[in-house]
Amino acid sequence: MSQRKILITSALPYANGPIHLGHLLEYIQTDIWSRFQKARGHECYYVCADDAHGTPIMLKAQQQGITPEQMIAQTKIEHEADFAGFAIGFDNYYSTHSEENRQFASLIYQRLDDAGHIKRKTISQLYDPQKNMFLPDRFVKGDCPKCGALDQNGDSCDVCGATYSPTDVKNPRSVVSGATPVLKDSEHYFFDLPAFSQMLQNWTRSGALQEEMANKLQEWFTDGLQMWDISRDAPYFGFEIPGAPGKFFYVWLDAPIGYLASFKHYCDQNNVDFDSVWQKDSSAEVYHFIGKDIIYFHSLFWPAMLEGAGFRKPNAVYAHGFVTVNGAKMSKSRGTFIKARTYLDNLNPEYLRYYFASKLTSGITDLDLNLDDFTQKVNADLVGKVVNIASRCAGFISKRFDGKLAASIAEPDLLQEFGNAGTSIADSFEKREFARAIRDIMALADKANQYIDNKAPWVLVKDEARQQEAHDVCSMGLNLFRVLMHYLKPILPVMAQEVEAFLNTELTWQNYQTPLLNHSINPFKALMQRVDPLKVAAMVAASTENLQPAAQNQPQDTPHQAAPAVTTANADTPRSAAREPISDTISIEDFAKIDLRVAKIISASAVEGADKLVQLQLDIGNGETRQVFAGIKAAYIPEELVGRSTVMVANLAPRKMRFGLSEGMVLAAGPGGGDLFILSPDDGATPGMRVK
Ligand code: 2FM
Ligand code: ZN
Repeated sequence: MSQRKILITSALPYANGPIHLGHLLEYIQTDIWSRFQKARGHECYYVCADDAHGTPIMLKAQQQGITPEQMIAQTKIEHEADFAGFAIGFDNYYSTHSEENRQFASLIYQRLDDAGHIKRKTISQLYDPQKNMFLPDRFVKGDCPKCGALDQNGDSCDVCGATYSPTDVKNPRSVVSGATPVLKDSEHYFFDLPAFSQMLQNWTRSGALQEEMANKLQEWFTDGLQMWDISRDAPYFGFEIPGAPGKFFYVWLDAPIGYLASFKHYCDQNNVDFDSVWQKDSSAEVYHFIGKDIIYFHSLFWPAMLEGAGFRKPNAVYAHGFVTVNGAKMSKSRGTFIKARTYLDNLNPEYLRYYFASKLTSGITDLDLNLDDFTQKVNADLVGKVVNIASRCAGFISKRFDGKLAASIAEPDLLQEFGNAGTSIADSFEKREFARAIRDIMALADKANQYIDNKAPWVLVKDEARQQEAHDVCSMGLNLFRVLMHYLKPILPVMAQEVEAFLNTELTWQNYQTPLLNHSINPFKALMQRVDPLKVAAMVAASTENLQPAAQNQPQDTPHQAAPAVTTANADTPRSAAREPISDTISIEDFAKIDLRVAKIISASAVEGADKLVQLQLDIGNGETRQVFAGIKAAYIPEELVGRSTVMVANLAPRKMRFGLSEGMVLAAGPGGGDLFILSPDDGATPGMRVK
């Protein structure tokens, strides 16, 4: 096996919020892969950094009455502590607000400009005349230009799914000050992405991307690549563009450059040759692990910038899916938006490393953290199978055989089988098929336990004549355990270290097939406690936030905030704050006009082209079905809704939407977005029953 030189990165988390379980999937995936490569003897570096620039960070620091520098310094300390808690073994964790990053951003920009890849153009954008700043799309709100729905985002409508330019929004207002934005001209700098179209088409089909991602990119190539706006006007927290006072690099320009900067900082401190990795003809390997939502930046802008500036491109960009918890998007009011710190306050981080690994493949499908399954799987596999092997053998070795393993292996074929499995397990790790590696390891763990069951050392030790046999069986069991823990080491580095102390040996790919004979071990200590369901519940309770109306950073003068606490999750309702006061009363006659029915969801699917909508087919009894478009996609995985009963407004006038006819509304509670709960009748209610 020849030695490879490998640089690995994970996406840089923004420096204005805590690390949560959604982030951790990526860091755990990358860390396992990096630990595996290092264990195989490769020269491997794993770097990351905080993504410290941009308008949201600037505004959040202002809100807190501190400088952005103070805020990002504090956040970095918290992020690093969280990562250390989960044993994420970065070789360097840095910040994009660093001198190295400023230099690389300037260098890359200069080279692109010199080569004619930067164009200047004056554009007109919404400007907050009170705050004296241009407004990014998400800082504008107003009424949808297509369907008129109130209080929609500056770039898309939750109700009809339309996407548009913030300049088209009706009654626009600045989220920052509440003022009505005005249009203002400014010169912007653009990176000529279309000039790299052919190179990118070749590169994306060179094996650098997963197939699903390459297919997604094909759509963008077909639509034609666009010039990319890389400048932002002051006030902005970032790097000023050289030679352009008052203009700053857009955060996404210098974010991936942070990969270079972090690695450069490491190289300078550790005498490693930076250029040998990043120069154009380098034979070193570079891999970026990211979430599938930021593939555009990493597979178009980033390789084009590198190419244009004379650097090498990554060997591959590996995307993963999103984390859901208990089958739904993470939600603050459900207590499933779990911060890294809250998890660490309650549970062993290696449970999560194992659980994520047991579900990770090389693909981009979303990964569900089902908390019951998590408890059950960790207990069954790690405690019930793996640790069980050691705990059944170790005591006898210490108490009866002087802490020393036997001089020979009782079943060489079985041990050989465990060792041989290393080839395909290593192949699974290499290909990021961690779930497959774990399946194979657990199948071996079952075999080891069967071996011990059959031999029953606890019976043998009672018979004076069979002491040697007992010693051999327990020694065999511990040798099998050692091979398994060696395979699990990238996933469970902390437990592996304890096992190394216990077995008095390092677990390595060089020695794992050489059995421990006549070898002294240390007394066995419990390696892992069972997952305590009460702790899981405590973690959820500690994560449950009561969402208050009028969040701090929302403008106070919104005319459309009042909405009932129970809202209709259809397209017609403006987004509402949680826990609204009770609104005006209506007469019983008014109420009687509303035909509320129990409806059974017979199919549910995402709507192509609408981020927020789910298309539902509802059985409302008497053989009648209704189609409803409901704005609940942020809260539910559509397929999981099938079979559930809910309540609908059955006599609402049908409404023609861009995607088809919506024939009613489904009732749901909550403020909106990911925090919506469809109403469910108790068991026994059947489709068509009138709700009174
Ligand atoms: O999406 C995000 O969270 C970004 N902060 C990721 C940046 S990754 C890289 F490009 F820096
Ligand atoms: Zn709309």
